[in-house]
Amino acid sequence: MTTHTDYQQAADRVRAAQRIAVLTGAGVSKESGIPTFRDALTGLWAQYDPTALATPLAFARDPKLVWDFYEFRRDLMRPAQPNAAHHALAELEQLKPNFHIITQNVDDLHERAGSQSVIRLHGRIGANKCSRNCQGNPTLIDVARLTYEDVPRCPYCDAFVRPDVVWFGENLPADAIDAAFDVSQRADLMLVIGTSGLVTPAADLPARAKRSGAHVIEINPHESAITSIADMWIAAPAGEALPRLLDLLKAD
Ligand code: OAD
Repeated sequence: MTTHTDYQQAADRVRAAQRIAVLTGAGVSKESGIPTFRDALTGLWAQYDPTALATPLAFARDPKLVWDFYEFRRDLMRPAQPNAAHHALAELEQLKPNFHIITQNVDDLHERAGSQSVIRLHGRIGANKCSRNCQGNPTLIDVARLTYEDVPRCPYCDAFVRPDVVWFGENLPADAIDAAFDVSQRADLMLVIGTSGLVTPAADLPARAKRSGAHVIEINPHESAITSIADMWIAAPAGEALPRLLDLLKAD
């Protein structure tokens, strides 16, 4: 159980830190009503097969199935608003000058809460691109300007349009992963929030930060693949833990 003393110690670490990196995953958006991937029963990958829906091969085989899956996820996300965790992180950035969020999430809730420095490792579900990136990487396409029945086509080369997200088997955007490595290696404190720590290279970042001397604090109601290397584990939902930490910081 996470005690008040643990929160106090975590707040002391945050207060003393000069350079903070925050790695977030689906858990930080769960309290906004967006399902995670791997939670039993409610997680997306507990209900759908990622190899049939989130790989380049799946899209080549059945573009409509994949496109419809992403439209379904967009519909799920549409009503979502930033929750107390997103807001607390945005406020923390105001208090700590050298503060960067590295997110695996494809929603835009960190930005909508007001976070300024957000490194997106897995793209943005709200955007689309040409599946051939015919005009450069990425060739973003505004599908609202297109007429289409099943899957929109690129107005330049007629290839199918796809969501601007990273699929299994694809490389992460080079500038994002470079920035994430850099921020993780420079950090003296890393907060790891709401990720199972199962998908690399994001999952390697806490160990990288730790090797470079950072203190690692995890916030996750359940044990994850990161917990064993974390210096401190706050076993609570992010929307509860982060505002509590922030209150302690502001109290002094
Ligand atoms: P997962 O679904 O794998 O893990 C979500 C984590 O959030 C779990 O460890 C939960 O215990 C935790 N969690 C649940 N509720 C929480 C809450 N209220 N507060 C804090 N934590 C909570 O999601 P990710 O680790 O983000 O990749 O998944 C990583 C990647 O796998 C995703 O970015 C996605 C997926 O396939 C791509 O789309 C490329």
